[in-house]
Amino acid sequence: MTKKKIFRYVLIALAVFLIIAQFFPIDKTNPQSDPAADFLMLEQPSQEIATLLKDACYDCHSNQTKYPWYTSVAPLSWWIKGHIDHGREHLNFSTWSDYPAKKASHKLEECFEVVEGKEMPMLTYWLVHPEANLSADQRIALVDFFKTKYSESE
Ligand code: HEC
Repeated sequence: MTKKKIFRYVLIALAVFLIIAQFFPIDKTNPQSDPAADFLMLEQPSQEIATLLKDACYDCHSNQTKYPWYTSVAPLSWWIKGHIDHGREHLNFSTWSDYPAKKASHKLEECFEVVEGKEMPMLTYWLVHPEANLSADQRIALVDFFKTKYSESE
């Protein structure tokens, strides 16, 4: 087989894969949860902080995920869904009241650590969500907020 032929077969295989992949969409139903159990409801942060949390964290760490059009394109959609599932597993602001006090306190500590360390929001997320590309001031505001909540919880 010539190189050209191999290349053509690879392209065809890729196209077939992409077509078949579209038959396996992700589940976009947001789990039901009690609005009264939500972090924003319980902690009542300022409007500024609430907006930052919704813009930068809630798509992966709540049951209020918004799914833009490209989340319908496999295999990208599978990868995104993986982040949402893992994100909720580690931290779910929608079911905040379910965390025992000690666990909630630990989550708050993790929150300011990952925001301070620029680990969150994830790079691949803020690249396509400009509103989640936190400025230095926004980061400080968010860290201060989590630190205050953390010290209140201790
Ligand atoms: C694109 C999805 C996404 C966004 C947006 C996002 N996270 Fe995460 N987050 C994850 C995933 C996935 C994990 C699981 C751990 C990992 O794979 O890094 C995680 C883990 C965490 C953890 C747990 C860390 C640990 O050590 O267990 C904390 C705390 C956290 N995120 C806070 C935040 C905060 C606060 C924001 C907003 C400023 C945010 N995340 C935005 C996906 C996201």
